[in-house]
Amino acid sequence: MNTNRNLKYNTPTEKKISKRQQVLEILADGLFHSGEEIGETLGLTRAAIWKHIQSLQEEGLEIYSVRGRGYCLEQNIELLNSQLISQHLSKHALHELAHVNVLFDVDSTNSFLLRRLEKGSVHGEVVVSEYQSTGRGRRDSQWFSPRGAGLYFSIGWRFNEVLADMHCLSLSIGVAIVRALNQLGFNGVGLKWPNDIYFGLEKLGGVLVETRMENAAYAEVVVGVGINISLPSKIKQSIEQATCDLISINKEIPPRNKLIATLIDEITLTLKTFQSKGFQNDIEQWRKLDVAKEKKVMLQLDNQSNIGRVLGIEDNGMLKLSVNGVIKKFMSGQISFKIDQ
Ligand code: BTN
Repeated sequence: MNTNRNLKYNTPTEKKISKRQQVLEILADGLFHSGEEIGETLGLTRAAIWKHIQSLQEEGLEIYSVRGRGYCLEQNIELLNSQLISQHLSKHALHELAHVNVLFDVDSTNSFLLRRLEKGSVHGEVVVSEYQSTGRGRRDSQWFSPRGAGLYFSIGWRFNEVLADMHCLSLSIGVAIVRALNQLGFNGVGLKWPNDIYFGLEKLGGVLVETRMENAAYAEVVVGVGINISLPSKIKQSIEQATCDLISINKEIPPRNKLIATLIDEITLTLKTFQSKGFQNDIEQWRKLDVAKEKKVMLQLDNQSNIGRVLGIEDNGMLKLSVNGVIKKFMSGQISFKIDQ
């Protein structure tokens, strides 16, 4: 595996920087920039600049346009940068990882790594994107990924044997994410079975683990993580379940490159430990973070719904639900606090 200091940046898809990206780089400081200045710097006409501004707005950025002053972002933004991310990574993560690839846009960071996986191992590859056009959630749901409003990344990992509790990996990843957020000063973050990151009774983020196994000899996983930082209210309203973001927990948000590096660090450590210890290493922590414990919920699985009280999780990650006094155990499903009856 890669031995540290040679961690590669933005390979293997080194891309030409688009004009749209360059426009955003100019606006990133949060100050006003006139159309004339942007046009001269980038060799663009006023009409072309306006088109790029409109695309950035459609992707979720709030950009003001003021006659006589020019364009300005609602708030300055630290754009994601692979070298800055690497500077914040621990020695351990630098040793374990192969690439940190930062993209300006992608369909889905998970799909990106899964496509690469068709050609060979993606062990230790990290893909981060500023925007996902078709971000994917669990159970074929959409993951809203507006530009600059969240963190969207995936990590590839190869397990050289297929562990019995592989299906619990996403639970361990949830624990790693909470650890990272706690380190960054976000307290009170919890987990909702199986792999939602919650604050109170609102969803803050999610994990999507996709696995490819070969004759049960090894497993390659793609661990995808989405965390809301500051969702535009229009998008919050369009999401069916109660949703929150980091900015509603703490007004002060750490620089985004540090945020993502801390998450990558903890997840890398967890992937490494999971290899030898499995879910047992994280189960007690998971139980302490369970936001649904003792709550009345509705569990949906294959068009069937069960309403009951959450008793917690078994050692093998199954959810225990008391339904009319009978204990039922579930391997998968979707629980919600909103009970339609
Ligand atoms: C869920 O809660 O349903 C899981 C959400 C996972 C979203 C992340 S964002 C980065 C990665 N790429 C995707 O398309 N999905 C995951």
